[in-house]
Amino acid sequence: MPKKLFIRTYGCQMNVYDSARMADVLAPLGYHAAQEVDEADMVIVNTCHIREHASEKVFSELGRLRDLKAARAAAGQGLIIAVAGCVAQAEGKEIMARAPYVDIVLGPQTYHRLPEMVARASRAGGRVLDTDFPAEAKFDHLPEPTAQGPSAFLSVQEGCDKFCTFCVVPYTRGAEYSRPAAAILAEARALIAGGACEITLLGQNVNGYHGDSPDGGHWGLGRLIRALAELPGLARLRYTTSHPRDLDDDLIAAHGEVPQLMPFLHLPVQSGSDRILAAMNRQHTAAEYLRLVERLRAARPDLALSSDFIVGFPGESDRDFEDSLALVRAVGFAQSYSFKYSPRPGTPAAALEQQVPDAVKEERLAAFHALIGEQSAAFNRACLGRSFDVLLERPGRRDGQLIGRSPYMQSVFVEAPAAMLNTVRRLRITDTHPNSLAGTLIESEA
Ligand code: 5AD
Ligand code: SF4
Repeated sequence: MPKKLFIRTYGCQMNVYDSARMADVLAPLGYHAAQEVDEADMVIVNTCHIREHASEKVFSELGRLRDLKAARAAAGQGLIIAVAGCVAQAEGKEIMARAPYVDIVLGPQTYHRLPEMVARASRAGGRVLDTDFPAEAKFDHLPEPTAQGPSAFLSVQEGCDKFCTFCVVPYTRGAEYSRPAAAILAEARALIAGGACEITLLGQNVNGYHGDSPDGGHWGLGRLIRALAELPGLARLRYTTSHPRDLDDDLIAAHGEVPQLMPFLHLPVQSGSDRILAAMNRQHTAAEYLRLVERLRAARPDLALSSDFIVGFPGESDRDFEDSLALVRAVGFAQSYSFKYSPRPGTPAAALEQQVPDAVKEERLAAFHALIGEQSAAFNRACLGRSFDVLLERPGRRDGQLIGRSPYMQSVFVEAPAAMLNTVRRLRITDTHPNSLAGTLIESEA
């Protein structure tokens, strides 16, 4: 009997990918996507542990689902509630104890076992907690992905061994694991057959990729990108998120040599102060980061960069913060994300003394936003009058309008017929805004 599945996804693109794969895994059981949570027979909350108050937010969402489940029960109907993702991994036992109406708690490494978990949960009282890091690779047990539109995600690497002192990922996602190249190429072919013309390769530390290659050796990310670029029908490649330490020569060269590899790179640096970078266990200095940027731009002069910064890491002085602003000025980012440091239980930095007062963090965040906002607005302004290829991804709010992505990840608005959705078109940029661009179609000369 057809059933409806609603998945609420928080956090990073990896979670977006995992949610799509969970839907694929449950499709053979008759689950189809529900548009609204109210019509679902099963709800999965796919959680993220990075943000502040992550677990409180999960519990308040679960409280709403408890009410929905009670209303269903009153009408003689059921609702399966599952909690997945990094909060589930880190706090699975607590969720089981505090939220007895939750049927399934599963970590990011076990969702290939969802059908079995659903079967167990459907039996009276059969609650399931599965947050192992199983020996078998979940990827070997997942069905082919279904099309996700013109721009698709493909997970190539998971986990992280870097242990930055502020970060929970090494604990929630486990040790680094790279998928074999042949499996990635097969998944890419399936995505292209389903209509994807852009693929974003995902991994917590994606450029640490070192997967088995079809010839019996190992490939790094640069080599994998070169192999993917040979697949017919694949117009664009991107990858995220990278660590500066693992950006090797071949990957840098690929930015200059592989036309499908888009000229935009998210390369988090976190701070511009060597003292703070050391306390964060980032394993690189500010000068090493700047040198990488120089080498990347030598390979691909129009490369646009984005980054993540943490302000108010324990012990960060005004001087350290100034160093971060100086690094931003030196690089000139197309966009950037900045976060107030917030202690994550169990991470080394949470136990450090010299936590920075919240008022200081707020002040620094505001200064940071102002500088980054100026830089991204300047980057957008400089696009006026230029022409680029834009992948038209979705309808705009107005009739006759489509929204696409530039090579540099900017959103571009254009008047164009709906028939052009899912295609790459050449546009001239006619107007720029702080967070988007507007363009017109350039008629093909044929
Ligand atoms: N506090 C603030 N920001 C954090 N990030 C990760 N952990 C924390 C934390 N404890 C930020 C980092 C990372 C991004 C995904 O989230 O900048 O790159
Ligand atoms: Fe977390 Fe990224 Fe550092 Fe790994 S490299 S510990 S995922 S911030």
